[in-house]
Amino acid sequence: MMDTSALTPFEARIEHAQLCERIARWDRAYHAEDAPEVDDATYDAAKRRLKAIEAAFPELATAASPTRAVGAAPADGFGKVRHAVPMLSLENAFDDQDVRDFDGRVRRFLGLGPDQPVALVAEPKIDGLSISLRYENGRFVQGATRGDGSEGEDVTANLTTLVARGRLPATITGAPAVLEVRGEVYMAKADFLDLNRRQEAAGDKIFANPRNAAAGSLRQLDSGVTATRPLSLFAYALGEVSEPVADSHSALLQRLRDWGFDVNPQARRCETVDDTLAVYHEIGERRAALPYDIDGVVYKVDRFDWQARLGMRENSPRWAIAHKFPAEQATTVVERIEIQVGRTGALTPVAHLVPVNVGGVMVSRATLHNEDEIARKDVREKDTVIVQRAGDVIPQVVAVVAGKRPEESVPFAFPELCPVCGSHTLREADGAIRRCAGGLSCSAQVKERLRHFVSRDAFDIEGLGEENVETLLEGGWIATPADLFRLEQRNSAGLQRLQNLKGWGEKKVAKLFAAIAARRTIALERFVFALGIRQVGEATAKRLARHYVTFAHWREAMARVAAGDPEAQAELTSIEDIGPSVAADLSAFFAEEHNAEVVDDLAAQLTLQDAQAPVSGTSAVAGKAVVFTGELTAMTRAEAKARAESLGAKVVGSVSKKTDYVVAGPGAGSKLAEAEKLGLTILTEAEWLALIGG
Ligand code: IVH
Repeated sequence: MMDTSALTPFEARIEHAQLCERIARWDRAYHAEDAPEVDDATYDAAKRRLKAIEAAFPELATAASPTRAVGAAPADGFGKVRHAVPMLSLENAFDDQDVRDFDGRVRRFLGLGPDQPVALVAEPKIDGLSISLRYENGRFVQGATRGDGSEGEDVTANLTTLVARGRLPATITGAPAVLEVRGEVYMAKADFLDLNRRQEAAGDKIFANPRNAAAGSLRQLDSGVTATRPLSLFAYALGEVSEPVADSHSALLQRLRDWGFDVNPQARRCETVDDTLAVYHEIGERRAALPYDIDGVVYKVDRFDWQARLGMRENSPRWAIAHKFPAEQATTVVERIEIQVGRTGALTPVAHLVPVNVGGVMVSRATLHNEDEIARKDVREKDTVIVQRAGDVIPQVVAVVAGKRPEESVPFAFPELCPVCGSHTLREADGAIRRCAGGLSCSAQVKERLRHFVSRDAFDIEGLGEENVETLLEGGWIATPADLFRLEQRNSAGLQRLQNLKGWGEKKVAKLFAAIAARRTIALERFVFALGIRQVGEATAKRLARHYVTFAHWREAMARVAAGDPEAQAELTSIEDIGPSVAADLSAFFAEEHNAEVVDDLAAQLTLQDAQAPVSGTSAVAGKAVVFTGELTAMTRAEAKARAESLGAKVVGSVSKKTDYVVAGPGAGSKLAEAEKLGLTILTEAEWLALIGG
């Protein structure tokens, strides 16, 4: 990088403006959109350069410069909270010398001699987002984000979900009347992976890293969503307090613990700067094994009276510094891009890399997240890229090194067909994820689909848990649900015998066969649900079954929907709660020949019980009072009554002014005469049948 002394004022002004624009954009992406555009090292380097330019050209250091601002101004949608004590940022140290310089500055400021130790507390720098928790008279009353340092967002409702989950005390005893506790909200790595798995299964947004997941979860306008997100918190500082609560940082941490806050167990008081550096290296070595992401170690002067004397600069205290870990990044080449198909059919692009050492770990693959991400970053095969490893999370491609792109390079074409089974893929209307429509016929998904198939609310086959499904699948016993119903036959005929499998035995096998046999007869709605069609949960399956009543009717309608028959599609979307999106998933499922085969093969093994016809609000006879009189020929009286009632009609015994229809067969007597007298609508049996649709 060019030395700032070599810049002319004009060049400095231009570079300064460019850096300000870039940093402001990165800040916005990071703070307001929870979608970082660059890695921390690039960001830090840009900020350092900006500071160097401002040091050489002080006239450029205006109040609007990003070197003066902390974070982002509060977003719309949340109430604003003014911080009585500003929420500060920290100065960064990038190597041991920076830390020694810090120690030297502190001593000089306090006028201490070389033999007077300055004890520091070293604690992990948690990679989350800072928040302020206000307790009044021992009760939690308000929680706020940092925002721009002086004004943050009111996230009380969201933080209350942490109280509900026992991660924060609701009340504390022995606290001053006003007590603000500050700390970091974060998501543990395991919780993050779990959340992303759930998000993926539901077709929702996948978070890039635990920090983004934590930020996205805390900044939800609906605290009901936050309640489902596994957030945690470490307390590490104070804001406004009505009276002192400790005289040193180490004593404060103990009080916070006593009050019921989680305090990082790695925090250590160090007597000398060498001790702090030793702690830094120790924590650095354990970094990957810690259950949460950290991006450095923070050192704080332990004595509060010294902290008070040291005071603060523009937006960071003089008594603390963050010693960052080297960025776990490296540059390498993408050999090829592979599309992997997940358990739920999501297509994920993965970059196969020329192996490279990233922070001590060899990396040969990195995720490209999804179709949009690959397009946004324009990652292509043979590109030189920057890869990053954050904790235990799968390494990711941060950016392409544009200057190193080979001339013949072409944009990556995301496949339209599933690379595993060749089925069509479908992009969700509201998400970035493309999925294989192959379902039960795609070997990447079959395990998950079969697990669903045998689950409690689907086929509910006793004794056929996850593990057994896996054994049967991997042993080549089954590949589709229909195979389950051929299992017994295969077993008695085959060379391979189930009872010889480890841990199975005669009894277990016999029980399993009995459980399977018991499910040969099954309600249509369970069958529909068990197929695991996207967005067809239990309620939708029930609606479909009730509407189409028989398997044959449903199956035929689905074939027509898949073939694009507008009438069949209109009928489908006329069903309550079935909109175009569900209809599209049903259509995609049946348009896939493999799926249709799997369904028909399975149905051939079963006796599917018809669903009860709906009490239809749309039938012409719904809500009408009907009297049957005389002989009926097409059906018995009981049948006629049941059918009419299932359509929402009320069948009554005697004729009155309130009767809507009188269905009269041969031999009708006084009731018919009465109806004629009252001028009611009288129908023959054939007319009635025509009215109710045959
Ligand atoms: S102390 C006045 N301690 O790092 C000092 N900050 O880069 C207030 N952070 O805004 C911060 N772990 O969000 C402190 N153990 C820790 C921390 C920590 C993470 C964050 C915090 C702060 C940012 C500064």
